[in-house]
Amino acid sequence: MALIDVKVPDIGDFKDVAVIELLVKPGDRVAVDQSLITVESDKASMEIPSSHAGVVKELKVQLGDKVSEGSVVLTLEAEGAATAAAPEPAPAPVAAPVVAEPVAAAVPAPAPAPTPAEAPVPMVAPAAASSPAAPHQPASAPALGLPHASPSVRKFARELGVPLAEVKGSGPKGRITLEDVQAFTKAVMAGTLQTQAQAAQAPAPAAGTGVGLDLLPWPKVDFAKFGPIERKELGRIKKISGANLMRNAVMIPAVTNHDDADITELEAFRVQLNKEHEKSGIKVTMLAFLIKACVAALKKFPEFNSSLDGDALIVKHYWHIGFAADTPNGLVVPVIKHADQKGILQISQEMAELAKKAREGKLGPADMSGATFTISSLGGIGGRYFTPIINAPEVAILGVCKSQMEPKWDGKQFVPRLMLPLSLTWDHRVIDGAAAARFNAYLGQILADFRRVLL
Ligand code: COA
Repeated sequence: MALIDVKVPDIGDFKDVAVIELLVKPGDRVAVDQSLITVESDKASMEIPSSHAGVVKELKVQLGDKVSEGSVVLTLEAEGAATAAAPEPAPAPVAAPVVAEPVAAAVPAPAPAPTPAEAPVPMVAPAAASSPAAPHQPASAPALGLPHASPSVRKFARELGVPLAEVKGSGPKGRITLEDVQAFTKAVMAGTLQTQAQAAQAPAPAAGTGVGLDLLPWPKVDFAKFGPIERKELGRIKKISGANLMRNAVMIPAVTNHDDADITELEAFRVQLNKEHEKSGIKVTMLAFLIKACVAALKKFPEFNSSLDGDALIVKHYWHIGFAADTPNGLVVPVIKHADQKGILQISQEMAELAKKAREGKLGPADMSGATFTISSLGGIGGRYFTPIINAPEVAILGVCKSQMEPKWDGKQFVPRLMLPLSLTWDHRVIDGAAAARFNAYLGQILADFRRVLL
């Protein structure tokens, strides 16, 4: 066995290119043509192959070293046949075309044929062609912003079907490493990342735009390491509503305005009404008044009763109000249809029936579809304000919390008033802050003096 210096072959016009990757170490057995190091100029990166088969004795270069044609890469204890077959470093005429490494596509492409010992240096310029059959760009081809990765990483990505163009490189100058490809694959498998091909197959978003979030993978924590745990699968409603809420939270530029409405008189009226209708079995809650008040506000501010359709706004001339109902299985949103044509008692009765059906899991699709605006009331539970998520394709939602007696200045003195906290979330693509403030103010006026509903 002879000790052989493996040298950098003819790499065209490249001189003093930096070693950016060491692909072997002393003791490794290498085959002819196996990549030993990766070098990189400002225009291209390439792997330097071994001219001989054998065992690496000593690396003669380190990361960051500059090499040119003839620089010794390593010494190799050469093995018989290969030594005889290739006594000198393989020439690498840059002008000759080589099989291009395709930019990895979502569908795995066949690996290129292995390069024979006397073939040109397998080079991957950033300007690599996008088809396996296309000739390789010469080494001096300008960088065109294509993925920056070594041939071995490209091959690995191709084998896994990873679209390299979508992988974020963590190496020097954004170079994509093997670990980057692995991390990308893990994230896709874990469902925390979608490839563009997968995203293209997903249902088109309402506004016709794609979502290009460059998010970190979801943190994976072994909670059992810290204490006892129990795993509970999410129920069907939670899974469905979760996916919808996620889309709505991410895709809608939502803003929330908080305000208060003085409902002192309205609450007194509600209590009186309930006394009068005690025998009817109908219980009127504040939510019924809110539905009616919202219809009046929606009529005054029609863009709140609309949906976006691309560049157009679909303004609806019907007023179907959804209300979020808490059930043992999760949140559902039954809808009071034609709320503008119904009185408080009828709305109260329908709400009670729908809420009962919701709790019993008996709501049908017709009960939950067609809403033009939604109210989420936590009034029976508590809290001050919150930021409800818009129920797409609606463009606004009203959150309501528990009313409380508060001291209010009437110009002469503080007087106790029952104040209802309102939180209006709106889609900023459709609604402006001023309109939202006016909507809340108008709603407050109606709730303070319900006769205004008639106006
Ligand atoms: N302020 C003070 N008290 C209020 C109130 C308010 N804003 N709204 C309701 N209340 C009172 C009611 O008067 C009632 O009082 P009573 O028992 O003394 O008669 C009590 O709170 C319970 O009311 P509730 O049964 O909740 O009726 P409702 O008409 O207000 O709400 C549902 C009906 C179905 C909407 C409600 O039960 C529900 O599920 N709310 C949760 C919605 C939700 O989870 N939203 C969050 C989405 S993220």
